[in-house]
Amino acid sequence: MEQKIVNPESGREDTSRRRFLKWLLGIIAAVNALVAGVPFLRSLISPSSAARQNPWLKVASINSLPEGKPVDIRFMAEPDDAYIHTTVLRSVWVIRHSAGDITVFSPVCTHLGCYYQWSQQSNRFECPCHASLFSLDGKVLGGPAPRSLDVLPSKIENGNVYVKWERFKVGTPERIPVA
Ligand code: FES
Repeated sequence: MEQKIVNPESGREDTSRRRFLKWLLGIIAAVNALVAGVPFLRSLISPSSAARQNPWLKVASINSLPEGKPVDIRFMAEPDDAYIHTTVLRSVWVIRHSAGDITVFSPVCTHLGCYYQWSQQSNRFECPCHASLFSLDGKVLGGPAPRSLDVLPSKIENGNVYVKWERFKVGTPERIPVA
């Protein structure tokens, strides 16, 4: 049932105030519909969420990498979802075996997620947190790490190295991707 708004001074129905309230409610409903519809429209015109969040990222020129020596490469990535757009600094370990053959490791230690380093002296990766050790090919040499280093998808195209950033659960013997 429609409720009448009565002007207390004149005792008559206040139609101008009623019109204004209707107009205001209409504007609020339109704004709500617009806000709710943006993610849907964006999903129609832009690449899928998975492709947006996990694109191929150019991280280096293949000629800039020495052969057989791990290089810590840092780059900016832009993970985003339907609402938030951010830029984050990421890093990967890239090993060039030849002009057409590379291995890319996630920088995250598979034990509890610290960032490990390459030791030129001992020729192995060493984690400063709990002393896990990994060989050049990522195998566990010692310490509590439950699995080898995580290899990330990579490719070489037009002389450039591309990587797909992925995260995996730490502390497990199996490689379990984390969304
Ligand atoms: S986090 Fe690397 S050894 Fe524990």
